[in-house]
Amino acid sequence: MLGPVILAASRSDRMRRMISAAPGTKQVVDRFIPGETVDEVLPVVRDLTARGLELTMDVVGEDITSPAQAEAARDAYLELIDRLKPLELGTRAEMSVKLSMFGQALDGGHELALKNVRPVVEAAAGIGTTVTLDAEDHTTLDSMFAIHDELRADFPQTGCVIQAYLFRTEADARRLADSGSRVRLVKGAYKEPASVAYQQKHEIDKAYVRVLKILMDGEGYPMIGSHDPRLISITQELARRAGRKPDEYEFQMLYGIRGDEHLRLAAEGHRMRVYTAYGTDWYGYFMRRLAEKPANLRFFVRSMITK
Ligand code: FDA
Repeated sequence: MLGPVILAASRSDRMRRMISAAPGTKQVVDRFIPGETVDEVLPVVRDLTARGLELTMDVVGEDITSPAQAEAARDAYLELIDRLKPLELGTRAEMSVKLSMFGQALDGGHELALKNVRPVVEAAAGIGTTVTLDAEDHTTLDSMFAIHDELRADFPQTGCVIQAYLFRTEADARRLADSGSRVRLVKGAYKEPASVAYQQKHEIDKAYVRVLKILMDGEGYPMIGSHDPRLISITQELARRAGRKPDEYEFQMLYGIRGDEHLRLAAEGHRMRVYTAYGTDWYGYFMRRLAEKPANLRFFVRSMITK
């Protein structure tokens, strides 16, 4: 019940101001977002890769209001890529981007987002790595998939995300499960209406397995974005049935969530990629993490009271 309320608050400017200024917020934010600057996040990159983990890096931000902010987002990713270059990590550190941060919701937003994201994909390819386009709310997805197609024409390794809770996703998965594709499957983190998305957890979990099967039986590279222990076992079983070796798919989890599981799967020989977000505009990302698990909210409230 609390999840949808928190997701609604994630779009409210008033709540953004209140929560950002609240005492104790930073302590809880730090669990999910290990830094505000490139300098703060690079030691985390070094630490995770030294432990056998891989990363996908997100400069947090979304819902921008001007083309100048979209260019600033592009430049923030270009700076990150420049700073990653000497580490020579190749695909062990890739990027995740939200097209809304590149201007997708502004006037002429589709073209603007494509224009701003292309140099980032080019720069990533220049250091031997890739970019994955995150999935935002359902109204943005036709544009995201069209941009994904355009980018793949020049950079075939460009990945994208699909969300199991949407009715459309099985069809998207069939279209995307072609040779060379990289597709991250997640449950979905936005507040979506019953006209487009499953609302019940058990329905979403069942849809996840159906889509997972399509990806595993296809010719692309599935990226399993979930912390759900049941789905992780099912993935291993479906991979075995599809005859996939451990390097023919990967697990992905969020920084700060089930860290022991990251290490356990990596130690078992799986590719485990940690979605590592950093930056100052953390509000939307942070609120989605609270919405996913009400216990986080209790911890958050307690940390505000005890400050
Ligand atoms: P579920 O929510 O059932 O959680 C399973 C277990 O994991 C919980 O019981 C708990 O132990 C732990 N857990 C999960 N979330 C937690 C939290 N916030 N805090 C503490 N524990 C938690 N969504 C989207 O719409 N677009 C996107 O592009 C992405 N990208 C993305 C990348 C990666 C790498 C991941 C892992 C996830 C995303 N998501 C996303 C988010 C995704 O849609 C979903 O909201 C979360 O992954 C939570 O769902 P689970 O599959 O983990 O299952």
